[in-house]
Amino acid sequence: MITDNHGRKVNYLRLAVTDRCNLRCFYCMPEEGLNWLSRSELMTYEEMLQICTLLVKMGIEKIRITGGEPFVRKDIMKFLTSLSKLKGLNELTITTNGVLTAPYVPELKKLGVKSVNLSLDTLDAGRFFAITGRDEFANVMQTMEELLKYGIEVKLNTVVMEGKNIQDIIPLVELTKELPVSVRFIEEMPFNGDGHIYTGLKWNYVRILEEISGGFPGIKKVPDPLYSTSYNYQIPGHKGNAGIIAAYSRTFCGTCNRVRITPVGELKTCLYDDGLLNIKDLIRQQAGENEIKETLFNVFNSRAKDGWEAERLRVVHKGVHESMATIG
Ligand code: GTP
Ligand code: 5AD
Ligand code: SF4
Repeated sequence: MITDNHGRKVNYLRLAVTDRCNLRCFYCMPEEGLNWLSRSELMTYEEMLQICTLLVKMGIEKIRITGGEPFVRKDIMKFLTSLSKLKGLNELTITTNGVLTAPYVPELKKLGVKSVNLSLDTLDAGRFFAITGRDEFANVMQTMEELLKYGIEVKLNTVVMEGKNIQDIIPLVELTKELPVSVRFIEEMPFNGDGHIYTGLKWNYVRILEEISGGFPGIKKVPDPLYSTSYNYQIPGHKGNAGIIAAYSRTFCGTCNRVRITPVGELKTCLYDDGLLNIKDLIRQQAGENEIKETLFNVFNSRAKDGWEAERLRVVHKGVHESMATIG
């Protein structure tokens, strides 16, 4: 079991397998893409498996595969298959944009994947194009249908953006009437790969809740699962539920159980920190298992108490030049 210097249990790893993506969500990366990493800068699958095996032995129980878009990396299914065999790993999950995912759903089910988070900012094909720069709405919807067909839990991630998708908030909650999905409205964060200037948070969780409550006055608070990033609500009679993720306000730091590894192997103990250690370098220097373990325990023991502190402690303020695609 891993416990950090603030007494928080650390049992959740977010592993970003690539910085590349086949969409261009304007809040994440500019049309020209990012300065893509070369293959030697990326962790290999062998290196990732080595570190995941060790972290699971140390106490990590849940691994979420992220990117970029995980399914654009070659042989991702082979890697997921190896991960699914790790003893001690209770939960293997994925965050995907759903463009390429639909055909893999039956295989994901076989691997024991119980839940997938799907990015979906709008229910309108035109607005989908305006936000993501690509005409892929139908494929994403097909992925959602496949996941539901195979009984895999679906959480939709919707970044709330002034002038872009405010009119989608109510229809997305409406979707939960007939579909057992969780739609989670996310505060926009200042990580956009330099795609546009971040002008401050216009839709915080309070304002988002007011908007939802306007359309659904009967909305009820439901209990939040342990370590949930979202405040969860339900409309009586709806099969699914709606949540709000205060990603910018950082209200869930007190129970944060997660660490992340970026596509270049940086270990981050907070989304808002600089990266405290490069695991890929350590592995490539042929460090032994005990040395890696000890180094990792030390890092987990020097976590910032919350995202605000992590941000304050940063040496390099990359600000908007960063992207969720390079953070994971
Ligand atoms: P689960 O709780 O396992 O469903 O994961 P999640 O909701 O954290 O995962 P997902 O990849 O779907 O991320 C959804 C949103 O949560 C992201 O867009 C971020 O805005 C936010 N988020 C994820 N991790 C963190 C974090 O460590 N800190 C903050 N502040 N926000 C986060
Ligand atoms: N602010 C908030 N959420 C973001 N995501 C990507 N960039 C941002 C941002 N700047 C979300 C995507 C995806 C999740 C992993 O991160 O919508 O679902
Ligand atoms: Fe791709 Fe996700 Fe970034 Fe959109 S938010 S460009 S889907 S990595």
